[in-house]
Amino acid sequence: MIDFQNVIEEIHNDLKLTTQRGVVASYIPELAKQRNTSFGIYLKHVSGDNCHVGDWDKPFSIQSISKVLALSKAIAFEGNNIWKRVDVEPSGNPFNHLSLLELENGIPRNPLINAGAIVVADILVTHLKNPKEDFLHYVRGISGDQTIDYNLDVATSEQRTGFKNYAAANLLKSFNNLNNDVDVVLDFYFHQCALEMNCEQLANAFYLFSNRGKCVNNIQHLTLSQIKRINAIMLTCGFYDEAGEFAFEVGLPGKSGVGGGIVALLPNNFVIVTWAPGLNAKGNSLIGMQALEQFTTKTNRSIF
Ligand code: DON
Repeated sequence: MIDFQNVIEEIHNDLKLTTQRGVVASYIPELAKQRNTSFGIYLKHVSGDNCHVGDWDKPFSIQSISKVLALSKAIAFEGNNIWKRVDVEPSGNPFNHLSLLELENGIPRNPLINAGAIVVADILVTHLKNPKEDFLHYVRGISGDQTIDYNLDVATSEQRTGFKNYAAANLLKSFNNLNNDVDVVLDFYFHQCALEMNCEQLANAFYLFSNRGKCVNNIQHLTLSQIKRINAIMLTCGFYDEAGEFAFEVGLPGKSGVGGGIVALLPNNFVIVTWAPGLNAKGNSLIGMQALEQFTTKTNRSIF
């Protein structure tokens, strides 16, 4: 039996004082306030055990990690119909890249790049009566935590500065791949990205992807086949133009966000969350990726 607490403490000790910490995101001005020294790890095992170290209990902006939660709700509504509007291929391009979208007639490469996530947001706006409230209710439900909330300052900050997302949404609209108003869909998308959670809450939210579709309260939200597909998309597309590198170094499905969080999971085993706000050139947490590489190497736990 591996002593996971000991392993994550070793990793935390090794990386906590490193001077190569990457750069905190500043294109969403509110995120630039984060301290680059923050670093936390939380692991939740399907047996119920958990362990944690460092800043695991400090809330941060989950940003693109929310795209997986939105996708899971959209799949629950639409099943396979969703794949008529968004593809499942890795893009090999940055998360906010636009030219492929035009070349490929408004069908985003996958649901985890921004354009794809905006289509998913459009689907949720169509299905949910009060989209922001209802989505929050869903996230609180699967996490078993009623305290989770949006950070409205972060949402407003991106609303004022998210010009590339406005461009993506308008391009989608021009190709008839957005059914609702651009402003309504983006308002929902910016709030979704502005969900604030700590490492423990995020591990709880993603528990169902490691637990065959059953959330922390043992409620079945997705079928085994849907879980398989979502985990496959995280593996191939969760890190944008660094998805290959993450699979190569870490070997787990996962998702990053520009708030510095990363969630990774081993089906039927565990969810592990890291938070370190400094990003590498591809927009993924620099130390988070290194920590997860060390984790799967030290424990020999990966899907490969
Ligand atoms: O749309 C955006 O640009 C942000 N709300 C989310 C981007 C993000 O987190 C990319 N992931 N690493």
